[in-house]
Amino acid sequence: MELNEFVHQLDELEKQAVGELSGIQDATALEEIRIKYLGAKSGQFKNVQKSMGALAATDRPAGGKRFNEVKNAIQAAFDEAQNRASQQATKSTGPLADPTLPGARIRLGHVHPITQTIEHLKEIMGRLGFSVTEGPEVEDPWHNFVALNIPDDHPARDPLDNFYLKTAEKNSGATRLLRSQTSTVQIRVMESRQPPVRIISLGRVYRPDEADATHFPMFHQMEGLWVDRGVTMAQLKSVLRLFATSYLGGDVNIRFRPSFFPFTEPSVEVDFWWSGRWIEFGGAGMVDPNVLNAVGYDPEVYTGFAFGLGVERLCMRRHQVTDIRDLYRNDVRFLRQF
Ligand code: FA5
Repeated sequence: MELNEFVHQLDELEKQAVGELSGIQDATALEEIRIKYLGAKSGQFKNVQKSMGALAATDRPAGGKRFNEVKNAIQAAFDEAQNRASQQATKSTGPLADPTLPGARIRLGHVHPITQTIEHLKEIMGRLGFSVTEGPEVEDPWHNFVALNIPDDHPARDPLDNFYLKTAEKNSGATRLLRSQTSTVQIRVMESRQPPVRIISLGRVYRPDEADATHFPMFHQMEGLWVDRGVTMAQLKSVLRLFATSYLGGDVNIRFRPSFFPFTEPSVEVDFWWSGRWIEFGGAGMVDPNVLNAVGYDPEVYTGFAFGLGVERLCMRRHQVTDIRDLYRNDVRFLRQF
């Protein structure tokens, strides 16, 4: 083969390949061209290279030089087209990741403020020597009323003030209700063991109260009970004051107000001062002898005190939450703050 003819073939190939590569924008078309011209088996460039063997030995150096020039030119056009195609891809899909941007914060779930409060209250009362007990949320009238000295005709039994469970009544004829106070646990504990008893019980209670800033139909109470020989009202005051200052801080103002509960005598209401008014956070008193009798304790030998505090109100006071409903709206922007 003549050198001229060989060089002509190379020139044509260069013109054609560089021409085609100059218009390429995307990676698929580019790959097709790469196979067509630079493919290792049957690419056109490979074919021209084969025909180099047909040159006269004296023409080979010149032919080889031109061959390399054309190969480099095509390679350069190919690299440029490849750059263009990848820029085009970035433009249409956006960058996969921009390492200069601040990272997206991973949000960890955490414990609900009421559960946190419950744990905190258990810890404080534990230090004061009270152990934790639990009781059921579905109760019978004996534990919710009778043993607590609340007789049949007492207004506290009114269906308008309690969630009675129709299904239980229909199935077994037995009256069942969602407990309206944790005082039920006092009875369950005293029925099952002898004094001394020094327990707290924390859990949900239910009342058909209309929701407002300080009331919710489901809320939590912390019940406390200490029965032994010689337990006094002075001890009740000391324990409640120690508890309140420990949980709410030494500067909290607390007052005890004479009150009435069927299961304590005398009884008090416990309030704290908050934003210009007294808010009630619990009831308390000395366990009524009728209650001690109902569980088989001798009131001539044993005395005791009991209290029931609203957990939500304690949590609200400590964290300056002004509306109880915020605790149950499940708004993570609110809950995340605790
Ligand atoms: C009782 O439930 C008595 N069992 C307390 C008690 C126990 C007295 C032991 C004596 C001996 P009272 O109904 O007042 O009492 O409720 C106690 C506390 O629960 C209230 O002071 C208040 O803090 C809270 N509470 C009552 N109703 C609601 C409600 N609807 N929403 C949120 N908290 C409430």
